[in-house]
Amino acid sequence: MKKVEAIKGFSKLSKSGKVAWVISNHFTGDKEAFQLLETYTHPDGEVQKLHDEFIENTLSNFYMPFGVAPNFLIDGAQYTIPMTIEESSVVAAAAKAASFWMQRGGFKTEVVSTTKIGHVHFVWKGKQPEVLQQIIQDSYQQFIGESEHITANMTARGGGVKSIQLINKCDLEPNYYQLEAKFETCDSMGANFINSCLESFAKTLKQVVSSASELAKEDKYLQILMSILSNYTPECTVKSWVECPIDEINEGSMPNDEFAEKFVKALKVAEIEPYRAVTHNKGIMNGIDSVIIATGNDFRAIEACVHAYAARNGQYSSLTHASVEDGIFKFWIEIPLSLGTVGGITSLHPMVKFAHEMLGNPNAKDLMKIVATAGLAQNFSALRSLITSGIQKGHMKMHLLNILNQLEATDEEKEQLVEHFKNRVVSFSAAVKAFCDLRGIEQPKQETR
Ligand code: MEV
Repeated sequence: MKKVEAIKGFSKLSKSGKVAWVISNHFTGDKEAFQLLETYTHPDGEVQKLHDEFIENTLSNFYMPFGVAPNFLIDGAQYTIPMTIEESSVVAAAAKAASFWMQRGGFKTEVVSTTKIGHVHFVWKGKQPEVLQQIIQDSYQQFIGESEHITANMTARGGGVKSIQLINKCDLEPNYYQLEAKFETCDSMGANFINSCLESFAKTLKQVVSSASELAKEDKYLQILMSILSNYTPECTVKSWVECPIDEINEGSMPNDEFAEKFVKALKVAEIEPYRAVTHNKGIMNGIDSVIIATGNDFRAIEACVHAYAARNGQYSSLTHASVEDGIFKFWIEIPLSLGTVGGITSLHPMVKFAHEMLGNPNAKDLMKIVATAGLAQNFSALRSLITSGIQKGHMKMHLLNILNQLEATDEEKEQLVEHFKNRVVSFSAAVKAFCDLRGIEQPKQETR
C-alpha cells in the first residue's frame, strides 16, 4: 500500500482534481482506475450532476441492481414491488412468497399509529422538578407560538406538534431532563421538520425558565445538551399478516399440518433464541431494506429502530410471529417504520421517482404497509426453505451466475452450466468443476471460497 500524505481542502478541489488526487495516491494502474470511474459516470451530464450533488466528494456512481417482485396482493390491491439489493436470492424469494399468498387471499395490513418523537436533552440543577414541570405546562402555547413559522405548513397538511412534556431522568443521570415532543409529519419522514421544531423549543425552554418568577435565581440556569429527533419510533408502527385454513397451505413438500407445525416451531425458536432471532430478522430486513432503498428512504434509521424494537422487552427477539388456531394458520409482523413519500430524495432521484410511480405514488401510510409486507414475504420464503429443502438449494441456484461471472464464463458457457445445474446441487466447488470440465481445463488447486 502506498504511503499517502494527508491533504487539506480536498472538498474544495474540482471533481477532476479529486479524481486525479485519489488515483495518483491510491492506485498503481492509473489508467484502469480512471477508466472504471468514467464507466460508472452517467453519460447524461444533468443526471450525473444530480448525483454529484447528493453528497460531498462524489467521484463516480456505485450501481446496485434495481429489481421487482410482482404479484403482491395487499389489501386487495395488486403491487409490483421495487427492490434494490445485491444479494442474489432476495427478489426471487419475495416474488415466490407473493405468488404463494396471492392464491390464498393475499396480505392484509393495518397502520397502527404514525406518531414520531424527539427530545431536547438538558441539564437543570434546580431542586423542585414539579415547579419546572408546571412552568413548561403553562408555557405550552408559547412553545407552539414561537415555532409557528416552522409548523404552519405541516399544520395546514393535518400534521404538526402533538404534545410537549417534561421527562425527569434524574434517576438515571443526575440533573438530566428531557423535553419530549411528539409529532405527526403526514407524508414526509419529517427529520428536518422535527429537528427545527426541537431547536425552537430549546430556545423557548431557556427563555421561559430564565424568566420564571417561581424560580430562585440559582435555579434559572439550564444547559441545553442537544435537540434531536429519535429514530426509535415505537409509536409509528404497521402490521401485515397472511392467514389461511391449514388444509389450504399445500406447500408441496410435506403434509399441511406438518408444515404448519414446523413453521410455528421455527418462529418460536426465533422468539426465544437471540442467535436465531438476529439471523431471522436479518432475512426480514433483506426485504425491508431493499424496498426502503428503492423508494429513497433512510435504511440506517429503519435498521436502528427495528432492532431496538426487537429488543424492547429486554431480550432480542423475532419481529414476526405465527400461530395455528381453530385450523387457521396465521403469520404476521408488527414493526415500527417511519417513512416518507415526499421530501428528501423521493422527488429528486429518477429511479426513486420511478419506484414510487410503479407503486401508484403511495402516501406514507401505504408505503409502510408495502414495506412491512415485503419483510413478511421475505421471512415466509426463508422459513419455508429452511424447514423444507434447506436454504442453500434456492440460494446457491441464484448465486450460480455470480460464481460463473467470477470465473469469467462466457454467455454461452453460462447458459450451458445453468442448464447443467437445473437438477443438481450448486456449490462453489461443483460450479468450478463443471466450468473446468466444460472448458476441458484442469481445476485450480486452491479455491478462494
Ligand atoms: C440470508 O440473507 C437470510 C436468511 O439467513 C434468513 C433466515 O435465516 O431466516 C436466509
